[in-house]
Amino acid sequence: MKIGTLGAGEIAQAFAIHLLKAGHEVLLSNSRDPGSLKQLVAKLGKGARAVTMSEAAKAPIVVLAVPWPKVAEVLGQLPGWDGRILIDATNHFLLPSHELADLKGRVSSEIVAELAPSAMVVKALNTLYASNLAREPREGKGHRVIFVSGDDADAKGEISVLLKGLGFAVIELGSLSEGGRAQQVGNGLAGVDLVQLGD
Ligand SMILES: NC(=O)c1ccc[n+]([C@@H]2O[C@H](COP(=O)([O-])OP(=O)(O)OC[C@H]3O[C@@H](n4cnc5c(N)ncnc54)[C@H](OP(=O)(O)O)[C@@H]3O)[C@@H](O)[C@H]2O)c1
Repeated sequence: MKIGTLGAGEIAQAFAIHLLKAGHEVLLSNSRDPGSLKQLVAKLGKGARAVTMSEAAKAPIVVLAVPWPKVAEVLGQLPGWDGRILIDATNHFLLPSHELADLKGRVSSEIVAELAPSAMVVKALNTLYASNLAREPREGKGHRVIFVSGDDADAKGEISVLLKGLGFAVIELGSLSEGGRAQQVGNGLAGVDLVQLGD
């Protein structure tokens, strides 16, 4: 599969390692010229490419991995999504303070979904520290858990299949409003690194 990333930092790189190992193509982008990612894509190896944000956003599956204060700016400059899948890996930290942004009771992924109309938003990859996400998904006699939430069953199913194909265990938590809220930083799952036992 072809997967685009908006942001090429810690989270995008940690996920890219697994995607590339499984033979997927990863199109990485950041706020600068693709040339700024030359060394990174060389390090990541076969299947990794540096592209512009708009090219990354054209992939059938796109990972949103930019700091929360940049989310509106990034999504605001992209064309329509036409039903493509947007994995929301963000946490709503303000920078540089790392205080939580005031969402006025709303769910961060619902805000992302509003900013990317016609995207199928799936909340995933946000609960593990990047250093844990980068680790081998198969751990001892089990599989590292990724939580997944979303309003579109097909999109959620597609991401679950992708993640399981990489060796992760998937726990689906429901809609963006329920599961997305549970996954949201501040609600107990942040940083939790679970391994589900079994094949
Ligand atoms: N790190 C973690 O352990 C962790 C865990 C779970 C979730 N998250 C969440 O994942 C998201 C990314 O975190 P990270 O740790 O990967 O961040 P990071 O290492 O600081 O990387 C951020 C990336 O976003 C890009 N970016 C920033 N502003 C941009 C813009 N206006 N347009 C396009 N790209 C832009 C940066 O590109 P430039 O270099 O060009 O600025 C960089 O590639 C955040 O929302 C964070 O809360 C992080």
